[in-house]
Amino acid sequence: MLAPSKRQMHLGVFWIGAGNHSAGWRYDGAWVSNSSWPVAAAGAQIAERGKFDLFFIADSLAMDPGDLPSFITRFEPTTLIAALSIVTKHVGLGATVSTSFSEPYNVARSFATLQHISGGRVAWNVVTTSRDKAALNFGQQHLNAHDLRYEIANEFVDVVKGLWNTWQPGAFVADKASGVFIDKEKVRPLDHKGRFFSVKGPLNIERCPHGDPLIIQAGGSVPGQELSARTADVVFSLVSGDQADAKAAYDGLKARVAKHGRAPEAVTILPGVMPIIGETDAQAKEQLDRLQSWLTPTNALTLVSGRIGHDISGYELDAPVPDLPVNTEGGSSFSSTLLAMARREKMTLRDLYNLTAAARGHWVISGTPARIADILEEWFTGGRADGFIIMPAYFPGAFDDFVDKVVPELQRRGLYRTDYAGPTLRDHLGIEPAQTR
Ligand SMILES: Cc1cc2nc3c(=O)[nH]c(=O)nc-3n(C[C@H](O)[C@H](O)[C@H](O)COP(=O)(O)O)c2cc1C
Repeated sequence: MLAPSKRQMHLGVFWIGAGNHSAGWRYDGAWVSNSSWPVAAAGAQIAERGKFDLFFIADSLAMDPGDLPSFITRFEPTTLIAALSIVTKHVGLGATVSTSFSEPYNVARSFATLQHISGGRVAWNVVTTSRDKAALNFGQQHLNAHDLRYEIANEFVDVVKGLWNTWQPGAFVADKASGVFIDKEKVRPLDHKGRFFSVKGPLNIERCPHGDPLIIQAGGSVPGQELSARTADVVFSLVSGDQADAKAAYDGLKARVAKHGRAPEAVTILPGVMPIIGETDAQAKEQLDRLQSWLTPTNALTLVSGRIGHDISGYELDAPVPDLPVNTEGGSSFSSTLLAMARREKMTLRDLYNLTAAARGHWVISGTPARIADILEEWFTGGRADGFIIMPAYFPGAFDDFVDKVVPELQRRGLYRTDYAGPTLRDHLGIEPAQTR
């Protein structure tokens, strides 16, 4: 297939079975479970019908009974994408694994295995984990400090990539006539001895003919951006809808990528966005109002407190958002984006929780399919995004609406593929395999 004559956007979907909106699962006909295999398989097939680049599985390592329904019960992501790779043919599959509670050798093995099984379609979402609650499940009282977590993550990713690289092209021979199984010269130990990890290698699985798995990163702090700029292929960004902020963040990250000697196009930046789609703008607003009407102050305040990193349950709901410092220890990008937006828009705590509880702090847009396509087009052509990570409020209805109504509109405008150019995630993103066997 010929390469498209103009730049086209990339689309991923933020899959959480019970919906991205805190109350999405209550919508008529919405799926209610994030741990149902038929539901997950059907979700991935919708993504493939929409020619999506990526079906993305988020994760955390703790459970809070008061949390968003999609976070109360969930599948382990690498196990899930292994199964999904069998019931899909094209869509890329992203799985989240924390660098704070795993070992590089395990992660390198799992993703190398998944890359083979899926035929070159997997990506690892590298997260450092931002909630202390997870530490309690791993024999620790607290997470490491924020910047230390990123120092560990940097070395972790280097070791994983190094382990994939212990198998050079041509290493796997399997020549029946000569009896040579591998070319031992082309399989070398890693001999890594660093500040945090000591890993001998080589990896006990050959390199995938489709190239190594890809790396996704979503940390927005300066150390998070540095990790992205140096190692990631795809970056999920947090935007509040403010165009100037989004442009500055996009350009800033691309400049960091160049500073690391990489082509700026090597990193695909996808802001998260929840589209609320209606036949008319009024109908879309009605749908959002309906979802918002199911929020309770208790679950909304828990969510906002988690996102901004301060317990705000004792504050007056209809007073301006208190002047709180950015919490740099948890997820600093959520804390700084939301607090800046609250100050800019002179929000009350109730405004902030209404907005945060809708898409957990991500950007919400609403309107007709053409209106949604207009906004995405404007952001894409205005150099604020290379595509989007779509966060449907509920599944399958809100995702079906995007795939069946917005995707054709984007295709008509030449902004989005009408078919996959090849079978691998690298093909979808236009990334050449660095090395193969
Ligand atoms: C679209 C998007 C998806 C994310 N998915 C996850 C996830 O699945 N698990 C997780 O622990 N963090 C997730 N994060 C959080 C970031 O990876 C990061 O850990 C967090 O923003 C804190 O890092 P920072 O201080 O560098 O911003 C996500 C962030 C964004 C913007």
